[in-house]
Order: sequence, then structure tokens, then C-alpha cells
Amino acid sequence: MLSPISWMKERGILIELTFIDADGESQTIQATPGESVMEAAIRNEVPGIEAACGGALACATCHAYVEEPWYSDVPEKTETEADMLEYGSHVDGRSRLTCQIEVTEALRGAVIRTPIEQG
Ligand code: FES
Repeated sequence: MLSPISWMKERGILIELTFIDADGESQTIQATPGESVMEAAIRNEVPGIEAACGGALACATCHAYVEEPWYSDVPEKTETEADMLEYGSHVDGRSRLTCQIEVTEALRGAVIRTPIEQG
């Protein structure tokens, strides 16, 4: 019997995301639609995503850079996310809090870079 993850992987339901750290090391993971990018990263032990507040939008340690064209395809950040990002380190125009991005088909194959340090 297939595990739920294997079942979804076999049917192309899982969304592949590639994280690249500041040293250029990459890790490709399988994310489940509906979870947040942060949850997928933590579940797969992606280095550089800390998520100290567990997704409560209160820490900015899930900060990462979403590369184009995916950046433009995810819903815009809320005012609260933008405010919290001000507490992040090395924030730029591609910066997002990954706990605020839902894994959807729009992210299939996305490249997400992690900052040199968090908060
Ligand atoms: Fe704390 Fe995203 S996990 S703001």
C-alpha cells in the first residue's frame, strides 16, 4: 500500500519547490497543496527557514526570496506581512514570509532562495 505522500507524488499532486541557500546549496522538496511554503520547508528540514513563531506572522524568521516568474504569480503580501518583513534581515523586492504563501499549482517548480541569516 502506498503512503499518502507516495500516492500524491505518483499522481502529480505534489508541488516541487527548490530552495537555494546563500552558499548556492540547493534542496528540492515535494510540497503538499494547501500547506504553507514554510510548513513544507520545515517538514523537509530546509536550512535557513527557522519559523520561530510557527506561522503566527510574529517573527519574520521564515523570510525567503521567491524568484520570478513565481513571485508574480503568488498573491500579494498583506499589509501585516509587509510590516513584519521590516523585521527581517537582508529584505529585498523578492522577499516574502513563507508562512504566508500557500502552496498552489502556481508555485510548481518554484525557486526560493533563503537569506544569509534570519531576523
Ligand atoms: Fe513567524 Fe512566518 S513563521 S512570521
